[in-house]
Amino acid sequence: MTKKDVLRVLKADDSYVSGQALCESLGVSRTAVWKQMNQLKTEGYDIESVSNKGYHINSAPDILTDYEIESEPMFKEGFVDEVVFFDEIDSTNNEAKRQGDTIRDKAKLFICESQTGGRGRRGRNWVSPSGSGIWMSLLFKPDITPASASMLTIVTAMAVKAAITDVLPESDCMIKWPNDIVLNGKKICGILTEMSAELEYIHYVVIGVGLNVNTLDFPEELSDIASSILKETGVKVKRSELVVAFSKEFNYFYKKFMKEKDLSSLVTEYDAMLINKGREVVTSGELAISGTAVGINSMGELIIKLKDGDLKVIRAGEVSVRGLYGYV
Ligand code: BTN
Repeated sequence: MTKKDVLRVLKADDSYVSGQALCESLGVSRTAVWKQMNQLKTEGYDIESVSNKGYHINSAPDILTDYEIESEPMFKEGFVDEVVFFDEIDSTNNEAKRQGDTIRDKAKLFICESQTGGRGRRGRNWVSPSGSGIWMSLLFKPDITPASASMLTIVTAMAVKAAITDVLPESDCMIKWPNDIVLNGKKICGILTEMSAELEYIHYVVIGVGLNVNTLDFPEELSDIASSILKETGVKVKRSELVVAFSKEFNYFYKKFMKEKDLSSLVTEYDAMLINKGREVVTSGELAISGTAVGINSMGELIIKLKDGDLKVIRAGEVSVRGLYGYV
């Protein structure tokens, strides 16, 4: 019997679970149950025990352990099969890649409290302090071609945006093409997708998500563009809830994506989440293009309407976009 088993039984029941029922459903002695309860209490779980009634879980701490996440009742509705937790690691993307070749038909989520070498896109660092964010990487083996893999980042952005909305319906975060999540014009989440592949065959993909949830302090140079859910809304979200919601939403969007193996059934939904839509954008690079973002096509490319009315399509990875007067 593990902590996960005990938590599953407790979380599944809104009322009290008798010691007897716990022992029977888990096939263990009362002493064993009592030991696990005490252990959980020392970790910050508020578990009430009332004589003649049994146990009741009042609240769980804001931690990201495999047992906290996997014991959530909604976990089984999600895409993730197994969670692997680290208190500290260099980078969850690195760890997922180290284990990449062992993945078969299951999806594993690597998650940690802090990263010592968190990586962003284009070789940037990703600041990953302990206890305040979600630093996680999804490892799986999709049956798509390597050329389609960049669309998984789009799918992931949709899942993150939807998960935040599930947990915090009043927040109006949006996607900045292709895959940043912004709240009040500031970036709260970034996605780094990597893969191991041959020309026509994917060995595995690793989708890294860095989500600033309760972070309050950002390095000086980031304070203008980066923020967190707590900073923007004043609401402290329990991170494991957000992870479980992400897994559920990813399942939904990924299944839709896999029907056509492109984004045709997701374009309308994505465009409704797109902060750039209808706004002026400028591309990076020497031949900067500016115009109005119209939305994406079924490959996840951004369609920009130029001043002369012509449409130009730009591919994620080739260039980035920003607003005419700032980040969005
Ligand atoms: C970006 O540049 O916007 C992408 C940031 C991705 C950060 C996440 S945090 C979890 C995972 N591990 C990493 O080292 N990077 C990704």
